[in-house]
Amino acid sequence: SLTMDVVLQQARPVLPVLVIEDISLALDLARALHAGGVRVLEVTLRTPRALDALAAVRKELPDLLVGAGTLIHTEQFLEAREAGAQFAVSPGCTERLAAAAEDSGLPYLPGVMTPSEVLLALEYGYRSLKLFPANGNASVKMLKSFKGPFTGIRFCPTGGITQDNLLTFLRLPNVACVGGTWVAPANLIRARAWDQITQLAAEACELANS
Ligand code: 3PG
Repeated sequence: SLTMDVVLQQARPVLPVLVIEDISLALDLARALHAGGVRVLEVTLRTPRALDALAAVRKELPDLLVGAGTLIHTEQFLEAREAGAQFAVSPGCTERLAAAAEDSGLPYLPGVMTPSEVLLALEYGYRSLKLFPANGNASVKMLKSFKGPFTGIRFCPTGGITQDNLLTFLRLPNVACVGGTWVAPANLIRARAWDQITQLAAEACELANS
């Protein structure tokens, strides 16, 4: 069965974090990202119809892996699974969230920000972690420092990643992929600027392969 490690490998270089306000745009958005080389998407449960958007993408675009993000309440794990989510992401982690993730059976990417949070996530059995919020060069330095004590832990830095700092993160050996909204910004979604979104995704992939 699918593991979070494999999800992050497939997502590399970028796991787009989607905030979908208008569900009628969800499929075009997902197709635009796919055309730019994206293989894995995270639909955040921040908007009223996010689960419906997730379900539509899962049903219509079987080539994509689709996860649910911004899970901050325990009941959201089952809701996400029922909508067809293939993995779950949280901005942090608590004992109850980890238990709910376990119950749902979904591969889970918990968020961490400090060494003690990494250790707690390790106690729960997670080795693929979201570093949130990634904070420019300070986070690059922190990830370099994490390499020593946290052998075998892989990170997906998210929150503050842009085209300009993407490579600095991707070159770190303990970074599996990066996440973010910059490849699918709200203004371009609203404008239905699908070609530009495809372009942003393609540029991220090209940079990563350069
Ligand atoms: C997330 O939930 O991962 C963040 O909101 C994404 O942050 P970004 O907008 O800085 O990419």
